[in-house]
Amino acid sequence: MSPFLLTRQLPEDATEAALRADVLHGLTKSPKTLPPKWFYDAVGSELFERITELPEYYPTRAEREILVDRAAEIAAATHARTLVELGSGSSEKTRYVIDALTDLHTYVPVDVSESALTQAGHALIEERPGLHVHALIADFTGRLTLPDTPGPRLVAFLGGTIGNLLPAERADFLAGVRALMAPGDALLLGTDLVKDEGVLVRAYDDAAGVTAAFNKNVLAVVNRELGADFDPGAFDHVALWDARNEWIEMRLRSRVAQTVKVPALDLAVDFAAGEELHTEISAKFRKEGVHAELSAAGLEQSHWWTDREGRFALSLSVAR
Ligand code: SAH
Ligand code: AVI
Repeated sequence: MSPFLLTRQLPEDATEAALRADVLHGLTKSPKTLPPKWFYDAVGSELFERITELPEYYPTRAEREILVDRAAEIAAATHARTLVELGSGSSEKTRYVIDALTDLHTYVPVDVSESALTQAGHALIEERPGLHVHALIADFTGRLTLPDTPGPRLVAFLGGTIGNLLPAERADFLAGVRALMAPGDALLLGTDLVKDEGVLVRAYDDAAGVTAAFNKNVLAVVNRELGADFDPGAFDHVALWDARNEWIEMRLRSRVAQTVKVPALDLAVDFAAGEELHTEISAKFRKEGVHAELSAAGLEQSHWWTDREGRFALSLSVAR
């Protein structure tokens, strides 16, 4: 096997069909919605990397702090020879785990963003000669086929990306992850924690407007892929805290009454002035909730670590 392999589990036409189905479904219901996975074309992946460096966006720094402190413990607890990372993006924080896993044979980053996988994969094989990198372009909410590599397996899902799934989607997702694991394999899960509303809202509505640009990028993706004529300037970025569900919601609010055409779907979509298109939830967690969701999926939580300010948690759990 060559040190860097990129496998597409999502044929390009399947991706386009999935986008068409999501846009048709999401823009014809009330409230209108678009799933967050469509944020991440090359521009969106780059914007996300800029978000991770914003002063207001604490999750990346908090999770990095935990990984720096705990990588050796994670390695000692798992002895992983294969590390599978879902929604791997730049793989930047993952390097701490990779470096600590001295017997690591293969790293399998899984992402919908081909640009992120290619950049991260090439950087990694230069930094860690001998490590096999088998990148998968795939949707982690679908059925994944992992390469046949040596165990034990550690599955990592970092950044708090699990919070971008609705509770029912999370249950399906965790059951799917468990199905990828043999008894004794481990899951390393990053979860952002419930905290002061002001801190949360600022993390999703930064002063420099990078999160607003990231949110509006989904309109550019629909324009490019489906020939739509969204005017991103005719929408405002909205970030609000839903205290009942304990999640942040990002929306795009139409500044005016307008009709958007989506030629590839033969669709004209009316927006009332002030109407909101829902683009993402980002759920925040409590320790007991994470434990219960893992347990329901057949995963036993063995470790729970937070950063020193208690903003973000990493948990390690073992497949029963
Ligand atoms: N894990 C990284 C990146 C988080 S951003 C970090 O902690 O910084 C979320 C990543 O998940 C992006 O790279 C995005 O392309 C990917 N992603 C989002 N939805 C996805 C899906 N349904 N399937 C696979 N990858 C997805
Ligand atoms: C990838 N995910 C965990 C990010 C989050 O914080 O929910 C995506 C994001 N959306 C706005 N800013 C960052």
